[in-house]
Amino acid sequence: MNTSNRADGRTRPHVVVVGSSNTDMTARVARLPGPGETVLSERFEMVAGGKGANQAVAAARLGAQVTFVARVGADALGAQAIAGFQAAGIDTAYVVQDSGAPTGIALIGVDAARGENSIIVAPGANAHLSPSDVEAASEVIRNADIVVCQLETPLETVKTALRIAWEAGVLTVLNPAPAQPLPADLLALVDILTPNETEAVLLVGDTDASPEAAAQQLHALGVSSVVVTLGAAGALVSNADGVVVVAGRRAPTVVDTTGAGDCFTGALSVALAEGKDLRRAAEFAGAAASLSVAKAGAQPSMPTRADVDAILK
Ligand code: ADP
Ligand code: NA
Repeated sequence: MNTSNRADGRTRPHVVVVGSSNTDMTARVARLPGPGETVLSERFEMVAGGKGANQAVAAARLGAQVTFVARVGADALGAQAIAGFQAAGIDTAYVVQDSGAPTGIALIGVDAARGENSIIVAPGANAHLSPSDVEAASEVIRNADIVVCQLETPLETVKTALRIAWEAGVLTVLNPAPAQPLPADLLALVDILTPNETEAVLLVGDTDASPEAAAQQLHALGVSSVVVTLGAAGALVSNADGVVVVAGRRAPTVVDTTGAGDCFTGALSVALAEGKDLRRAAEFAGAAASLSVAKAGAQPSMPTRADVDAILK
């Protein structure tokens, strides 16, 4: 373990996140437009997002040393994203500014009355994150405590990161979002999988499966730990010790659940890297995620370590 001691006696784990960075452009509308329609937005916001970046920021706020491996455009949004990572204390040495593609964008329409979203993602530079970008960071990955990936970057890139970590005995976390079926040789490289309910059943190709049944099938494919997030209900935790539901924590208020799953995965990774067992780590992650839903936006809503420790007391 490449942990350094801090004044408070807690070790500071090293988390490497390999993944996406987007700018979320969110427009609240009275009604989502249909085909051929134009509607006016009552409120527009641009906030840093992308699952990889959200998870990296969550882990950094919770006290980890974080290295982010990603691509943004060589444009103003990319520069803004990098400035945000640096402000959160994230090592950006492996965030490439790609002159051949723009920063990834998520266009999010929010139906203010119904609370429903329609989202268009233009991956831009995220689609260029390559196996060789990951190989450039291989020394850092091999010396990390845990490596965290999602599915907003090419699958070959994800597989390369997982393989480098796996071969070095570094814990691997995959947040399998957005949902898609995955090849068995990729799942075999995953120690901890963190799907939501939809993703869990899609991964096993059986939309009638219960989260518990899906977890069992994923174990059979070589994934030793499965944590299925269940929204406000918490998370189902399944590993060799058995299956338990770690109850959700009541959020102070529910303002915006964007990024709740990312907060959960980032927080779980920090707790596991600190040596907590899976159940304790899921409790910690649930506490962190419950705080993230009480604030607007993805990255701006990630709680600090002090915030989470205060509610776990
Ligand atoms: P995703 O956002 O990826 O679909 P979930 O909806 O399962 O994932 O949420 C992830 C985690 O966020 C949950 O396991 C829970 O800890 C927390 N969470 C989500 N919604 C709420 C809520 N309304 N109140 C409290 N915690 C929540
Ligand atoms: Na939020």
